[in-house]
Amino acid sequence: MPAPEASTQATIERAAALLQAGGVVAIPTETVYGLAASALDPVAVARVFEVKRRPAFDPLIVHVCGEAMLPAVAVGIPDAAYRLMERFWPGPLTIVLRKASGVPGLVTAGTATVAVRSPAHPVARAIIEFAGLPLAAPSANPFGRLSPTRAEHVWRGLGDAVDLIVDGGPAEYGIESTIVTLDPEPTLLRAGAIPPDEIEAVIGPLARGSTPGTDAVPGSAAHHYAPATPVRVVEWDSVPAASRSRAGWLGLRHPAPGYAFSRVLSPSGDLREAAAALFESLHELDERSLERIDVERIPERGIGLAIADRLRRAQASSI
Ligand code: TXA
Ligand code: MG
Repeated sequence: MPAPEASTQATIERAAALLQAGGVVAIPTETVYGLAASALDPVAVARVFEVKRRPAFDPLIVHVCGEAMLPAVAVGIPDAAYRLMERFWPGPLTIVLRKASGVPGLVTAGTATVAVRSPAHPVARAIIEFAGLPLAAPSANPFGRLSPTRAEHVWRGLGDAVDLIVDGGPAEYGIESTIVTLDPEPTLLRAGAIPPDEIEAVIGPLARGSTPGTDAVPGSAAHHYAPATPVRVVEWDSVPAASRSRAGWLGLRHPAPGYAFSRVLSPSGDLREAAAALFESLHELDERSLERIDVERIPERGIGLAIADRLRRAQASSI
């Protein structure tokens, strides 16, 4: 089983060589860890689906290193997309564009569009650059489970099914990228690390939509971002003391009395800090054999929109 390897230059070069040879490598990004394969190699991409045990071929995000790699993956890029790239790349914004012919249909689930982002994590950038390849990478978790924010999460979830796990430290954002499309109109497809108002400041109002393979497919949204322990989103004072002793508490600012285990996302109530701690805290609570995890309702503003979205999905899968 390949234990996570520290991201030395030698490991980065080995990761790049494995990817060029059709391998599957878990890489750190600033949002969550990704399970990467060459986006131009359909057999390698098929292995990604196999390793994740995804029951359906949802389209994957293609990771590039800056705009230089774009011609290999996308065509007919609109002006608004360039404005977004200038403002948010490298970083956690994924833009849906018209796909170039070299991108296999398996990456895009047969659609004519491709989701692209240029990650900010220096190790992800180095691996993409060294391999000289765009990388298709979903989050590096088994299908339906929590996204990994540390190399150990990948190791525990996928173990020896991957060729290499590159450890780049804990993820800075801890929540996935924001996804937008511009065609036929600017639309927010997935709330994520970049709050929608920051995007609207660059390109104007965003309509609200959904991504294929999640909300668009009836029922499947429920299986995303879920720990094995049932999750309930609650108000801090709404849970009777008697039902707390075998449950865990995940509060925004404050611990709650009477729970078997209690954890706080951000003592100062900072939503960015809360997002970064979310999946990690849920992983930790999930390991404690609790009957249930009560999570305090998060204010739905800024990055809180993405946190609330992930918690809704975790709760839906618990019913
Ligand atoms: O932060 C992230 O985005 C992480 C890191 C690894 O980059 N990746 C990630 O990938 O969250 P994944 O596979 O867990 O989620 C990809 C999402 C899915 O909801 C999928 O439906 C959407 O991207 N997507 C991919 N291609 C698309 C397309 N052509 N049009 C619309 N949505 C697309
Ligand atoms: Mg995912």
